[in-house]
Parts: sequence; C-alpha cells; structure tokens
Amino acid sequence: MGRLQGKYALITGASQGLGLQMAIAFAREGAAGLAIVARGAERLEDARRLIQATAPETTVLVIAADVSQPQDIERVVATTLNEFQGHLDILINNASAIGPSPMPFLLDYPLEDFRTVLNTNLIAPFLLIKKVLPAMIESGGSIVNVTSDAGITGYPGWGAYGISKFGLEGLSQTWAAELEDSQVRVNWVDPGNMNTAMHRAAEPEEDPSQWADPKTVTDIFVYLASDESKAVHGQRFEAQDEDATHVAA
Ligand SMILES: NC(=O)c1ccc[n+]([C@@H]2O[C@H](COP(=O)([O-])OP(=O)(O)OC[C@H]3O[C@@H](n4cnc5c(N)ncnc54)[C@H](OP(=O)(O)O)[C@@H]3O)[C@@H](O)[C@H]2O)c1
Repeated sequence: MGRLQGKYALITGASQGLGLQMAIAFAREGAAGLAIVARGAERLEDARRLIQATAPETTVLVIAADVSQPQDIERVVATTLNEFQGHLDILINNASAIGPSPMPFLLDYPLEDFRTVLNTNLIAPFLLIKKVLPAMIESGGSIVNVTSDAGITGYPGWGAYGISKFGLEGLSQTWAAELEDSQVRVNWVDPGNMNTAMHRAAEPEEDPSQWADPKTVTDIFVYLASDESKAVHGQRFEAQDEDATHVAA
C-alpha cells in the first residue's frame, strides 16, 4: 500500500479489462489522481465508481475519447494536465483495438479496419507520449506501453493487431533510446493471455476460463509506475512471468 502515493497517472482503455484493473490497483496504492480514458462514457462512469469505492481519496478524472483521433488525444492531454495542475507522473498506453472479429487473413483484411487498428494501437501511443513529454521531462515520469506476444511473432489471422504491436515494440525501443539521458523512462509489458472482452472477441471458439483474470497481472504495472523501478528503462516485461518484477529490480 502507498507505493504510488502522490502520483498522477493517465491510463487509456481503463473502462474494463486490464486498464480498469490497473486503475483500481493504482488507486489502492494511493495514487493522487487517475485520468481514465475510453470511448464509452457509461462504462467509464461505472469504472470511476468502482475505483472510488476502492480509494475515495483518489481523484478520478473521466475522459470519454477515441484515441484513434488525434484531436481527441489533444483534448485528453489538455484536460488531464489542466485538472492535475500540470502534474503527470505516469502514462499507460493500454487502449487497443483487435480489428474485425472473426479475424480475417491479411488477404481479406479491409483497409479501413487496418488503418483504425494502427491508429489506435500505434499512432495513439506515439502521439500521447509526444504530448505528455513536456509535462514529464522536468520532474520525471514513467511511460508503459502494453504490448503482446503477437508483437514479436506473426501469427496467421492476427493481422493488423499483431502488426500494430510489432510497431509498438519498435516505438517503445526508439522512444527509450531517445530518452536515455532524460528523467523519463519507457518500458513495455506483454500482459499474457487474459480473460477480457478483447480476447473473447479474438478467439470466440476458445474457453476463456483458461486465461488469466486481468486482476492478477497488475503487479508489474504498479512496480513500473512506482519509484521502486526508477532505474528501469528500455525493458520489455512479461506480466505472467513470475520473476517479472524482479528482472531489473
Ligand atoms: N486480453 C489479452 O489476452 C491480451 C493479451 C496480450 C495483450 N493484451 C493487451 O492488453 C491491453 C488491454 O486489453 P484488454 O484485453 O484489457 O482489452 P478490453 O477488455 O477489450 O479493453 C479495452 C479498453 O480499451 C478501450 N478502447 C478501445 N479502443 C479505444 C479507442 N479507440 N479509444 C479509447 N479507448 C479505447 C475500451 O473501451 P471502449 O471500447 O469504450 O473505447 C476498453 O476500455 C491491450 O493493449 C491489449 O492489446 C491483451
């Protein structure tokens, strides 16, 4: 408890699944403020209620926005910095689009869907990092991008999603290299298979009970968001690897 005392975080895709569980874990660890972003306003409000039931002291800022739209990203960052009086310690790029379900092979992949997936999963993290950096550069900050094993292996049928995560891995490495001498650290985490709406849409024929509850994979994110990992930069983690939080500690 208290590992994120006084910290302000922005988490995209925090209305359900992993993002919501991360927000709850951050609040439980004493985060001062959480900006939670997703498109669906109603589910975001439910998320706010759940987070505040856990930690009434945490300020929860709800921002309904589509991160695939650059103008929404401008609004998300401006609203967050305005509400948190210029403070932002943590950015979690978690929101993601899986694309059409069932997932088509590349030969049949519609161009518009391909673009939407890339805009959401790759261009949005690029822009969000760009936009929050001025606020983080002086006081330091932790950026965590949520990747996937589909970002290091080209699985048939995982099309634009996997390709976007390959891009995200490269984006993460490049930002990390360019920020090497700064106070801002960039790391990325593959959470592993989880029982969430996204995974159920991706593999509707599979039994979702075989996948982890997203609640159980939040430790690495708390660790990377906290000052315990101050010296950890430019690293890739697997959340369901038991040693994940000890790799670089
Ligand atoms: N589930 C897995 O097994 C698994 C495995 C490896 C990696 N991951 C990664 O883990 C992360 C979380 O996934 P999840 O499984 O928790 O997904 P999820 O349960 O489907 O949640 C996705 C969240 O992102 C939001 N979102 C989607 N598109 C958005 C957009 N354009 N703008 C703003 N918010 C948007 C959704 O809300 P709205 O729909 O209301 O916008 C929701 O809050 C993703 O980066 C995913 O790639 C998941």
